[in-house]
Amino acid sequence: MIKLGVLASGQGTNLQAIIDASLKGEIEVEVSVVISDKRDAYALKRAEEHSIPAIFINRGDFSSKEEYEREIIKNLQKHEVSLVILAGYMRVVGKEFAKEYKGKMMNIHPALLPSFPGLKAWEQAYNYGVKVSGVTVHFVEEGVDTGPVILQRAVEVKEDDTLDSLLQRIHQEEYKIYPQAIQLFAQGKLKIEGRRVRII
Ligand code: GRF
Repeated sequence: MIKLGVLASGQGTNLQAIIDASLKGEIEVEVSVVISDKRDAYALKRAEEHSIPAIFINRGDFSSKEEYEREIIKNLQKHEVSLVILAGYMRVVGKEFAKEYKGKMMNIHPALLPSFPGLKAWEQAYNYGVKVSGVTVHFVEEGVDTGPVILQRAVEVKEDDTLDSLLQRIHQEEYKIYPQAIQLFAQGKLKIEGRRVRII
């Protein structure tokens, strides 16, 4: 069974969906460690509730981003992680960290990339007035929300949608496709060919 390391800065609802899917046997992975850059991230509580090692790593304790990320890598290696999952991790991954886990690190983004990269993507899409937005799972590369796309799902923007109602439906899709992408990886079904991820 492959081991996951999850990085999260906030609520951790995606983390919860992944833990639940693994407990139900829907995905053949074990969440081995959860790491956060926020001491009070609820994601850490969720991990603890499931007896998963929960580690706070304080960026402020390190003089450079590289050193901080080396500490993260050390912890991932200690827990024999072979797939890193960014789930609401609110920092841009540095060059060395991205290189270390090239093809082995995923992120979920609440819009259809390459539209609306960056922060509050659902809000950017809503304010732009698009009729369809969605969710993207992609491999992480250096750069913000730029890596090869693994899975995408469209979410319609309805006439009576508020920012909040749209976000809720986007989250519901996230909880489905993140576990799916992880399971495809666990089964060895994802093949990266340049920018394209083939599902074999
Ligand atoms: C999600 O909307 C995800 O797309 C984005 O950050 C949010 C994390 O939410 N990258 P949660 O911490 O999983 O609840």
